[in-house]
This record gives sequence, C-alpha cells and structure tokens, in this order.
Amino acid sequence: CGIVGYVGERNSLDVLMGGLRRLEYRGYDSAGVAVVDDDGAIETMKRAGKLQVLADELSENPLHRGGTGIGHTRWATHGGPTDSNAHPHLGDDGRLALIHNGIIENFSELKEELLAEGFSFESETDTEVAAVLLGKEYAATGDLREAFRNTVSRLDGAFTLLAVHRAEPGVVVGARRNSPLVIGLGEGENFLGSDVAAFVEYTKRAVAIGQDQIVTITADEVVVTDFDGQPVEVESFEVAWDASAAEKGGWSSFMRKEVAEQPEAVAKTLLGRVVDGRVVIPELESFGDEELRGIRRITLIACGTAAYAGMVAKYAIEQWARVPVEVELSHEFRYREPVLDEHTLVVSISQSGETMDTLMAVKYAREQGARTISICNTQGATIPRESDAVVYTHAGPEVAVASTKAFVAQIAALYLFGLHLARVRGTLSAEALADQLAELQAVPEKLEAVLAESEKVTQLAHWMADTRSVLFLGRHVGYPIALEGALKLKELAYIHAEGFAAGELKHGPIALIEPGQPVFVVVPSPRGSAALHPKVVSNIQEIRARGARVIAIAEEGDAAVLPFADEVLRIPLAAPLFEPLLAVVPLQIFAMELSQAKGLDVDQPRNLAKSVTVE
Ligand code: G6P
Repeated sequence: CGIVGYVGERNSLDVLMGGLRRLEYRGYDSAGVAVVDDDGAIETMKRAGKLQVLADELSENPLHRGGTGIGHTRWATHGGPTDSNAHPHLGDDGRLALIHNGIIENFSELKEELLAEGFSFESETDTEVAAVLLGKEYAATGDLREAFRNTVSRLDGAFTLLAVHRAEPGVVVGARRNSPLVIGLGEGENFLGSDVAAFVEYTKRAVAIGQDQIVTITADEVVVTDFDGQPVEVESFEVAWDASAAEKGGWSSFMRKEVAEQPEAVAKTLLGRVVDGRVVIPELESFGDEELRGIRRITLIACGTAAYAGMVAKYAIEQWARVPVEVELSHEFRYREPVLDEHTLVVSISQSGETMDTLMAVKYAREQGARTISICNTQGATIPRESDAVVYTHAGPEVAVASTKAFVAQIAALYLFGLHLARVRGTLSAEALADQLAELQAVPEKLEAVLAESEKVTQLAHWMADTRSVLFLGRHVGYPIALEGALKLKELAYIHAEGFAAGELKHGPIALIEPGQPVFVVVPSPRGSAALHPKVVSNIQEIRARGARVIAIAEEGDAAVLPFADEVLRIPLAAPLFEPLLAVVPLQIFAMELSQAKGLDVDQPRNLAKSVTVE
C-alpha cells in the first residue's frame, strides 16, 4: 500500500492526491484521504477502484480545504477492495482517521476485547481495530501522541500507521514496524510517505524512520521517538532522484519511458564506479579484502524479476570470482533452515528495498551470522538499512509495476561486484578484468542500438495479439532471460507463458509443441562457448519440426538460425555474459506492446503491486 501524510500551508488534499499518484504503483485497488481543517473538522473520502475513481469523486464533491491530511492507496490483504474496506478508517466516535499498511496479526484478539467493552465496527479490516483502539486511548489520555504510543505498543505484526485527530489539527502521527515510512522535511511544512516519491516534488530532504519508531509532524517540527516515547536521533539525507524523473513526461506509459531509460540506468549505475580500469565501490568499504577472500559461498536472494537478475549474475560471479553462488527466492530461503555462517555472503536484490519476503530473509540471514549486502534502487528503504552494506543501482524511480530498467541496473551492479570480487580474490588476470569491464561499459550504447531496432518487435506483438500461449527457451545466461520474458508476458498481457532451459526441452516441455505454437528462443552467441550455439540451433530444429513458430533472438551476423526461424530479432555483438542485458529488451517490448494491443493497462496490471510489503 502507499501512504502519504502532510501538515503545512498548502491545501493538503492537493499534496495527498499528488503523492498518491506517485505511489499508486504500490497498490491500486482502492484509495482514500482524510483532511483536517483549521477548525478541527475532519472529512474523509474513500473509493474502491483506481485512484482516478477517487479523484473524480473529489472533483464532484470536494472536501474542505485543510492543511493537515493523510492519504492511502491500497493493495487488499484483509477484506476485498470495497469502499468500506478502503482506508482511512475512523475511530468509533468519528473524531480520528487512521491509515495502515501491513498486517496486524493480533487483530482478532483486540477486536474481541473491544467488542466486549461495547465498541462497534463497520468493516472487516484489521485497520479499523487500530482506529477504534486509538479512539479509546485518546478518550483515556486526551493526548494524541500518548494515545498513539499506547495503541502501537499493543499491536503485533507489520505496520505503518498514520493518524490525525480533529482535536489536534496541524498534527499527523505515524509509526512503523517492518513496513516503510519516510519523512520529507520542508520549510513550514512536513511530509510523510511510504517512500520519497510521495514528496520529492516538494522537498528532497528526507529522513528514513527506523524500526519501531514513532514520528509526529507539525508544520514546523518533526519529532521521532521509540515506542516508549524516548527521543531518537535521526539523520537526514538528500534524495538523488529528480522530481521530474517520476513523471511520465510525454510518454504514453511509465513502462515505455522506463524501457527507453535502460541505457541511462546502466550508465548511471556504472558511473564513478570504474576508475582507471578498476572497480571502485566505496559503499563496500566495510567489507575488507581479507573478508572478501574468505567468502566460501554467496547466496543471492530476491523475488520476481530481481531473482532473474540474480540468476544471470550467478553465471558471471562464479565464472569470474570462482566462488559458489546460489540463487534463491527469498520466501523459500527464509523457511528452509539454510546453512549459513560468517563465510556465507547473502546478497539481496530488490528494486524497492521493501519487499517483505526479501526483508525477512535478510534479517534471518543476519541472525544466522551471515554477512549481507543489499542491491537496491530506493534510498531510505528498509532492506539497505537492515543490511551490512548497500550498493545502490541508479536506475531512477521505477513506477511501472513490471520491472525493466531496474533489472538491467541490477545486473550491472552485480557484475561490478563480481568483477571487484574477482580482482580481490585474484581469479581473473588484469587483462581479462579490463576486457570484461570494457564490455560492461559498452552496454549502454548497445542498449541504445537494441531500442532503435524495436519496430519489428512491435509489429510482431500486434500480429500476435490473439495468442493464448507463448514459450520461451534459453540456455546459460539466456535461461533466466527466457524466464523473465515469460514473466513479463504473464504480468502484462495475462497470457499463459513459460520459460524453459533449452536443454530441458527434450525432457518434457517438447510435448507442448504443436503446430503454430509460438516459441521465443534466446540464441547464445556463436562466438561464445563452442558447444552451446549448435545445441540451441538443434533445439530450434527440433521444435520447428513439430510445427513451432520460432522467433529467435540472435546476435547480428548469426546466419545459422536463419533457415529455421520464422522471425529473427537481432541484438548487437557482445561477450556471452553481456548478452542477457541486451536480449531481455525485445522481450520486454514484446510484452508491453502485446498488452497495449489487447487494450490493457501496461503500468498497472491487475492483481499486482510493485512493492509487496506483506509476506
Ligand atoms: C513485485 C513486483 C515485481 C518485482 C518483485 C520484486 O512482485 O510486481 O515486478 O520484480 O515484486 O520487487 P523488488 O522491489 O524487491 O525488486
């Protein structure tokens, strides 16, 4: 879910709606706002459906102008996406409003207790329980801060809560446990948001709130305490994102814009990190060379697209640094008692830095004594705070739910790390290192070339708009790309799609091939490992013989595929480990164009959220 809070001179509704628009990628099945005016009147409006439904309603029935407010955009967990389950929820006397992200695990106990005391409820949500509890505490204490502290101390689970009370206009209180909340520091105004995108339009000075902390903002003051009310020291940081970077800026969708930004995303991630032919990552200073040499195993953990970036990097890091690398989905890793010790390095990969599955896995890894590094795209996010070190990708804000530029930036960051490790561990010659670095630095330009050639992919997607099933094959680093191509198509076009390791074809999936079945094949370079290219070409022949319609993604000049492929999409020459960064682009574009051809919402596909902050 996305959360915004504001206190200041502006009409808070404008700030809230602008912030929610930027956070809508966090969930978009319902939305709501509450505004307190200076006379202490509190008004709320909430609607099921996308934010636009709420915006339309507000333009017909505007709320009072008020300088204090909170807003929420929801990704349903408890209770379906209805008007009444949408946030804010009111305390039982209607004097306070509260919004929530996360899950309150002990809500049924609390609810029973409150029911027994005579309180009543309007919704099925865990959030309303917190609202009613806060109302009760306020009645007992007459002080919002104290009442809020008493309330959050009774909650178990993961939550970010924001609340306003009509008796205290000009105040928003917030709390966080295992769920994100960031403060935006303004002049005569202050902001709260699930992430900095909520307020970057107004201020770039931000403070990330720590675990189990409470914040109170007024127009002139920000106070952070722990759950017992003891003040805590906070440090502000400067948001590196440009406000306009989170705008569509003339593009028809965020995804289209973000696909086009991929050369820049990689270039910025590399910027300043290759000095005199050597990888320099100051953020990793806390990992001394001795420690890096002592690593016996690396586990990459992530979910969704980020996990495929990890799968790509596994090939490169093992090859370069000669250290065993495994890749695991965070939610699987966390619950199988993995073998970890101080010689295991756990590298998490997360665009948002908030994915709860990954966060919990990182915490678990640390508890078990492993050292942790976070590859993350969002400053002030939780996973970097919970890790021993962070290497930021500099892809800029990614708004479309389906990840694109963050993916290539993640691979670039992991490759930098792999090359750094290889140098420290002495597993690559200086010459080989220099070659690989040169390849990495050439990626942005080659990405430009792939983007410039995308017309054919667009056509293909339009021709294939009625397709009901698509298969993707790849081998070596092309295998995760096949998986990512299939994921993109599922996410965006709701088409059944599956990716396979090309070598596995004969062990089962080939039974799926029937006349007309479209199959994308990521073809390895003929200049790479001698054995691979002919094997994949054979795979193509095998499926072709059974009637498949083959779309090959092959490097320029690879003529061997021509006789067997119905379509060939070309990518520029690159060393084998760098091909995935290029080959993924036509697959992203294919899914995006097909989704558009079907008239679907590319940026906000059904049922998904970009940042999943529940386990
Ligand atoms: C969600 C998104 C995916 C994303 C995954 C991991 O499921 O819909 O696009 O790849 O989370 O997100 P993260 O922010 O951790 O990279």
